[in-house]
Amino acid sequence: MSMTNAAALATSPSIVSERIQRIKLSPSVAVRTIIAQLREQGRRIIDLTIGEPDFSTPEHICAAATAAMARGETKYPASQGTPALRKAVAARMQADWGVSYPVGQIIVSTGAKQVIYNALAATLNEGDEVIIPAPFWVSYPDMVVVNGGTPVIANATPEQGYKLTPEALERAITPRTKWLMMNSPSNPTGALYTREDLEGLCAVLLRNPHVWLMTDDIYARLNFTGSPTVHPIQVAPALAARTLLVNGVSKAYAMTGWRIGFGAGPEPLIQAMAVLQSQSTSGASSISQAAALEALTGPQDCVQQFAATFRERRDVAVRLMAGIDGLKVVVPEGAFYVFPDCNGLMGKTTPTGEVLRTDTDLTNYLLREAGVALIDGTAYGAPGTFRLSFAASMDAIAQGCEGIRAACAKLI
Ligand SMILES: Cc1ncc(COP(=O)(O)O)c(C=O)c1O
Repeated sequence: MSMTNAAALATSPSIVSERIQRIKLSPSVAVRTIIAQLREQGRRIIDLTIGEPDFSTPEHICAAATAAMARGETKYPASQGTPALRKAVAARMQADWGVSYPVGQIIVSTGAKQVIYNALAATLNEGDEVIIPAPFWVSYPDMVVVNGGTPVIANATPEQGYKLTPEALERAITPRTKWLMMNSPSNPTGALYTREDLEGLCAVLLRNPHVWLMTDDIYARLNFTGSPTVHPIQVAPALAARTLLVNGVSKAYAMTGWRIGFGAGPEPLIQAMAVLQSQSTSGASSISQAAALEALTGPQDCVQQFAATFRERRDVAVRLMAGIDGLKVVVPEGAFYVFPDCNGLMGKTTPTGEVLRTDTDLTNYLLREAGVALIDGTAYGAPGTFRLSFAASMDAIAQGCEGIRAACAKLI
C-alpha cells in the first residue's frame, strides 16, 4: 500500500534530525510564499520585503560569464576558489581595508551565506557561544543553533542607533564565547559603525583574546555617508589574527543569483572551512567565479551608481516614513533598509476592531489593509519594529509609504 507524503511524515517524524527541528524556514522565504498566494488571488501587493538589488547584473559581468563558458570553463573549479578570483579578492581586501592576505587565506564559497555557515560549522563545539547584536540578520542565530552553538543576543536600541555598545559586549562575553558577529552597514537597520564606535568595541575584544570576530561586510560598499566604511581591523590591526572577513558580490554588484561570496582570515580557520567545503559542496560555480572576477577587477562605476540610487531612495523612504504618526525612524547610513520603531502604534485598534499588540499584528494589518508587504521586527530579534526595503522602484516606495500612512491613520 502506498502512503501519501503527509501520512509518511506523520508515521515517521524522526526522519528530520533534532538539529533541523530546532531551526525554522527563513522568514524572507516564508513571506515570499504569502505574497505569491495573495497575488494569485488577484490582490495588488507592493512588495517592500525584498533583500536584493532590483537592478540587473551589469553587462560586462554577464559577458565575462559567457566568455568563460565559451572557453570551456565548465569543469569542477578548485574547491577553495579559482586562484584568479582569490587573487582579486585579496586585492580588493587590500584596497578596502589596507590588509594583505595571501591566496591561501582566502576562500570562495556559494554566497557569503555559505562562508558564514562553513565558518560556524568548522569552529563551533557543542555549547560554544556566539554573540549576535540584535537587530540581526535573520539567518545568524539559526546558523549558530544548527551547528550546535548557543546564540547570545546582545540588544542594541534605537536610542543607540541600533549599534552594540562596548558595555553590552563586555556583559555578553563569557569563557564559552567563541565569536562576535558584526554586520556594518547592517541588515536590517542600515546602522554603520564609525571609527569611534569600533574603537570602544575593539578595546573590549583586545582584552578578551579568546573571542574571535566575524565581520559580515556584504553591504560595506553601500554606504551613504560620503566617508569610507571603517573596518575593525583598521582600528585594531592585532585583531586580524582572530578575524574572519566575509564579503561577496551579491549586494554591491547586483549579483544575488550568481551565488559568490568570499572569506579572508587566519590560515587554520580558512583551511578548516576548505576541508568542509571539499566534502560538502566543492567549489562554487566556475562560471559565476569568472563573473565575480570581472566584477572585482572590471569597471567599478556600477557600484557607485547603485549606491547613489539607493541613497536617493533612502532619502525618500525616510522622509515619508518619518511623517507617519506613531513611527520613529533612525536614518539608515548604508544597506537598503529602513527599520522604524512602531511601538507608538501598539495598543491601537484597526477598523475591524482588532487590537494591534505586536509588530507582527501591524505588518499583517498593513498587508491586509494597504497591500504593502513588510517584515516584522520580531524576525530580526527586535519586537516593536519592522523592516522596509528600499530595493524597489521609487514608485513602489512612494505608493507603499502612502499605503502605510493611510492605513496607520485609520487606527484609533
Ligand atoms: C547581512 C547579510 N549577510 C549575508 C547575506 C547573504 O549574502 P549572499 O547572497 O552572498 O549569500 C545577506 C543577504 O540577504 C545579508 O543580508
